[in-house]
Amino acid sequence: MTENDQRAEWRRKGEIWVVNHERIDRMLAPLGRAALDVAAPKPGESVLDVGCGAGTTTLQLAEKIGAGGSVLGVDISEPMLDFARERAAAAASGLPIRFELGDAATYAFPRARFDLLFSRFGVMFFADPVAAFANLHGALKPGGRLCFVCWRPAAENELVSLPARAVKALIPPAPRSEPNAPGPFSFGDPARVTSILSGAGFSNIALETFGCRMLYGVGETRDGAIDDAVEQAFETGPFSRALGELQGDVRERAREAVRAAFADRAEDGGVFIEGNAWIVTALADHWRNPRQ
Ligand SMILES: C[S@@+](CC[C@H](N)C(=O)[O-])C[C@H]1O[C@@H](n2cnc3c(N)ncnc32)[C@H](O)[C@@H]1O
Repeated sequence: MTENDQRAEWRRKGEIWVVNHERIDRMLAPLGRAALDVAAPKPGESVLDVGCGAGTTTLQLAEKIGAGGSVLGVDISEPMLDFARERAAAAASGLPIRFELGDAATYAFPRARFDLLFSRFGVMFFADPVAAFANLHGALKPGGRLCFVCWRPAAENELVSLPARAVKALIPPAPRSEPNAPGPFSFGDPARVTSILSGAGFSNIALETFGCRMLYGVGETRDGAIDDAVEQAFETGPFSRALGELQGDVRERAREAVRAAFADRAEDGGVFIEGNAWIVTALADHWRNPRQ
């Protein structure tokens, strides 16, 4: 995909994300919180939020570092950034936040500026990940920290595996996709992530597994929560395109099958699905970066 294609794709996804931001944030909250705990942003630090999207974690980072620090959120999706700017303007004044539209893989970041590079699910989409992370590496101060959360493989994430299993008998199997192609699950293999980061010059690379129950559907009643989960599966997330392309009778049968699958996960208070991620940490070691 060219940068223009990526921009167009994330414009389309961004518009959907903005409409659904409350339910997506609710679902991702425990994973973002866990990564923020590990990243441990400190008052006064300078932080870069990579693929910041609608700015949820950018705001959280800014609250932690306070007025003496600064946070830059970079993203390729205009609608997401427009919404992020609105949210930052509506938040408590004085938060040291800036947003920039750009491709983090090639963006001309100031060299050796940041203490911390953070991302919640924003770094798995680079066409050349080693080059992209080398670019990001150059933006970190020597000894600066990298911390991001990314998905473990799709088969371990009910966001995809649960609806996929439910409709298996109804839709033709998707063509085998290249697991390392840019996409939400392209960082599932820990050896690959380690190799990308060490190729980009990072040291002290560590991947910690993090699993949690994600709140996927909410409603005033059990049925309402299940309906909310079904709507979310059809409208957002990695399996929504496959479901969205279904027509007529097959679509209705798929909806019923997905509904039955989520009904199994409904409890008082909502529909919960299992999410599994890596929390990845590394340090910038400027002496070992082969690309600088
Ligand atoms: C799954 S979303 C996560 C958004 C946000 N971090 C969050 O947790 O709400 C992935 C984000 O990465 C952004 N993105 C994808 N490729 C990018 C690139 N090359 N440079 C900057 N942002 C990118 C997308 O526009 C999108 O906002």
